[in-house]
Amino acid sequence: MQTFLHGRDLIGDLDFSKEEVETVLEVALDLKRKRALNEPHAYLRDKVLAMLFFFSSTRTRGSFEAGMAQLGGHGAFIESTTTQISHGDTAKEIGEIFGRYFDGIAIRHCDWPIGNAYLNDVAKASRVPVLNMQCEIYHPFQCLADLMTIMEKKGRDLRGKKMVVSWAYAASYLKPISVPQSLILQMPRFGMDVVLAHPPEFKLMPDIMDAAQEQARKSHTGFEVISDPDGMEKAFKDADVVYAKSWGAMLTTEDANEGARIISQYKHWITDAQKMKAAKDDAIYMHPLPADRDVEVTSEVMDGPNSVVFDEAENRLHAQKAVMALTMA
Ligand code: CP
Repeated sequence: MQTFLHGRDLIGDLDFSKEEVETVLEVALDLKRKRALNEPHAYLRDKVLAMLFFFSSTRTRGSFEAGMAQLGGHGAFIESTTTQISHGDTAKEIGEIFGRYFDGIAIRHCDWPIGNAYLNDVAKASRVPVLNMQCEIYHPFQCLADLMTIMEKKGRDLRGKKMVVSWAYAASYLKPISVPQSLILQMPRFGMDVVLAHPPEFKLMPDIMDAAQEQARKSHTGFEVISDPDGMEKAFKDADVVYAKSWGAMLTTEDANEGARIISQYKHWITDAQKMKAAKDDAIYMHPLPADRDVEVTSEVMDGPNSVVFDEAENRLHAQKAVMALTMA
């Protein structure tokens, strides 16, 4: 068990080794028990986390802020628009200065294709850990919560379990590709056979695909890609885990109108009860939320017995507290 994570950044999913992720999960489960029993766990007394947002959030903001308070510290909510970032404060200034005020810097910056570079530039200038609350490439804390949820529902040994990571239709906005990218990188390390399904225009980044293939090869797990206009139902067959969400066609076009036009061709990529019948009877349905209800997924599935979306959202809190306690204490 690798336990020394003090001072470490978490920007990409593979920044922590498999053993280190296992430590995070152990600590997260312990913190979840402690919270249920109302046991104090103030591992970050007097510590303050900067939470810098360039993009809106419900779960990420709420869970980081609540998590810091439960750990005895404080989460300072900072919207980029209320800072001097647009008046000259660069990533270097944020890293240098916030690194002197705060004990950790968490950032959400999903802008294509600059968010991840911004986080790395802040990290280079910072003396404290930088935590990725989502960029355009990775959503590592979502993925840790997802892994924790899958283990709670399917057991710690996930070898041989089939996980479908599927694109889904949504009309609300062009959602980042970070969630599916994080999932295909992390899940093979824990033994799952991953099937990635999307219409042809919704490919993920080639270097992420290569890295995911490499993780699957090293872990001796399956990694299949279904890139087919009608591939959703086929992908669901015999799945243990169905993780179906929308993302934008960023690798095909950076034009928002063209992206919306492409998306509009695939309204049939909705998770509904009929498609879920192709999965195993005890398959779980996952989504990081927010979901476009009755567009991306039917309410029947989202509120149905196979859905674990609210446990998944809860586990954001426990997984993040674990990483914050391990890196910032
Ligand atoms: N899943 C997720 O990151 O939710 P928010 O965008 O609401 O933070």
